[in-house]
Amino acid sequence: MTPILFVTDLDHTLVGDDFAHEQLNEWLLAARATGSKIVYSTGRSLIRYQELATEAPLFEPDLLIASVGTAIYSQLDGTPSSEWQEKLTPGWDRDRVMATTAHFSDLVLQAETEQSAFKVSFFLTEEAAIELLPQLDTLLKQQGLDVQLIYSSGRDLDVLPRHANKGAALTFVRQTLGFAPERTIVCGDSGNDIALFAAGSERGIIVGNAQPELLSWHRDHPTPNHYLAKSHCAAGILEGLEYFGFR
Ligand code: GLC
Ligand code: MG
Repeated sequence: MTPILFVTDLDHTLVGDDFAHEQLNEWLLAARATGSKIVYSTGRSLIRYQELATEAPLFEPDLLIASVGTAIYSQLDGTPSSEWQEKLTPGWDRDRVMATTAHFSDLVLQAETEQSAFKVSFFLTEEAAIELLPQLDTLLKQQGLDVQLIYSSGRDLDVLPRHANKGAALTFVRQTLGFAPERTIVCGDSGNDIALFAAGSERGIIVGNAQPELLSWHRDHPTPNHYLAKSHCAAGILEGLEYFGFR
């Protein structure tokens, strides 16, 4: 098989059905033996990735994209790529993001482990989000803050630098590793994965248990490059690999 770049979200995408996950692992490891690269792209910080790795049958990836695309690790030794972080710095002012978001009492800061130099994350209920997100967006723009808001799973709000998301990190990694979009597969289930599917002409697998925000984006952006699986989690990925003729 021609080598592929396989990039997958973890929670509720690769992880969630241990039986199918182990079956997919066999396929991925065989693909890796012939030159394919396996990349995990998660919203979690490195610390929370390591927690998950003790609970789920995860093998060590070739690269880990963590914290919603704001940190790229080639080794899981705690040092993210400085080349990538330098690209995120222009226009990003974390202190002013904190000051602006403090005006909204519905924004509840997530755990300290999930806050980082280039990511500020909150919990926000779906009901509150409807009015708050446009207001926050307007206020941030008025302050001249060039950021993006990513809302996932009716629960998580990430405020990120304009140039950081899972899609931008994917493109950086894909170009660094030298894979064409047609030889690249991305998999996901929720709002922070939309950027993976929007990045370009990569082949995309949306698992059957995807969240409403990703499903509605998929409906609004039809393309033969994306496949919406019937099965959930890793079983949906296996289904998609077959659909695209990779397996
Ligand atoms: C993960 C992260 C969290 C983030 C969410 C959505 O759960 O731990 O900080 O908000 O993904 O991107
Ligand atoms: Mg997920």
